[in-house]
Amino acid sequence: MARLDDTETFHSIMFPGHMHTKDSLNYAANFRFQDTDTVIVTYPKSGTTWMQEIITLVLNKGDPTVAQNQPNWARAPWLEQYYCADVLKATTGPRIITTHLPYHLLAPALQHSKAKVIYVARNLKDVSVSYYHFHKMANFLPDPGTFSDFLNDFLKGEVHYGSWFDHIKGWTSHAKDIQNFLYITYEEMWQDLLGSVRKVSHFLQFPLTEDELILAQKHCSFNSMKENAMVNYTLIPQEIMDHSKGKFMRNGKVGDWKNLFTEEQSRLVDDVYSSQMADSSLLFKWECPEESRRPLMTNYTSETYTQKITLLT
Ligand code: A3P
Repeated sequence: MARLDDTETFHSIMFPGHMHTKDSLNYAANFRFQDTDTVIVTYPKSGTTWMQEIITLVLNKGDPTVAQNQPNWARAPWLEQYYCADVLKATTGPRIITTHLPYHLLAPALQHSKAKVIYVARNLKDVSVSYYHFHKMANFLPDPGTFSDFLNDFLKGEVHYGSWFDHIKGWTSHAKDIQNFLYITYEEMWQDLLGSVRKVSHFLQFPLTEDELILAQKHCSFNSMKENAMVNYTLIPQEIMDHSKGKFMRNGKVGDWKNLFTEEQSRLVDDVYSSQMADSSLLFKWECPEESRRPLMTNYTSETYTQKITLLT
């Protein structure tokens, strides 16, 4: 599938024609979830790949073999992308499914489901910057123009996958309608990765020992994922994702928007945010000082893990 310049519009929302077709979007909207499914829901650039990695590491008790040998889209396929049905057919065991779809498109399919839904949110300013840079390297997204042009389109929701506001409000305001729902933010994951891995393990009812949690956290760090070809998208051909124009694992920080936003743009976003989110109680951290971050635990090496596995077998 190429269709790099095509756009698929579904229920008034634009999707890249590369990877999305009318059939694949209809398949997603009519999907039959199983109670054992885990569903990662995000607006793009909010920490999707990070959560895919965390779940993989949790379900493998910190053992990185799967994370280092199977691309993220094969272990946690996007429901709305055309290859999903084939990947799920070949999946044995509990399924991890990823989606960027807004709530209203998946609500009927999720009704009465006991599937575990994890919603990852990220502050709007960092999402807009990350998404802007992603548009420059992803040849299946339109040329974003200047950041100012892009930010205006983004605030109006006139970008692929639709409005950040609609997405986040749609999902969080219906959290009570979903039987198993976890809301977590990118900022929380950044500030306390070990605590976040623990939270996910608890939510999935898949307990890990402290050592396994530490090992999982280690492999989910930015530096580790940046080097992992299974998640850094370097497996994707240059004509689809041009790594000379940027990196998928770009800088992984909270508050990076300050390096691109003008004061005027920041004020504009604050104003639009206040009016759009007036009916929401969500709070976002727009920056997190380095000293507020819990240091990564690194006192557990893969050698000790291997020794432990050897002892156990
Ligand atoms: P930046 O562009 O700000 O660096 P998604 O997976 O939803 O497309 O999100 C991609 C964003 O998540 C990118 O943000 C990427 O660097 C960041 N990211 C991915 N893994 C991360 C990790 N382990 N730690 C911090 N940020 C991470």
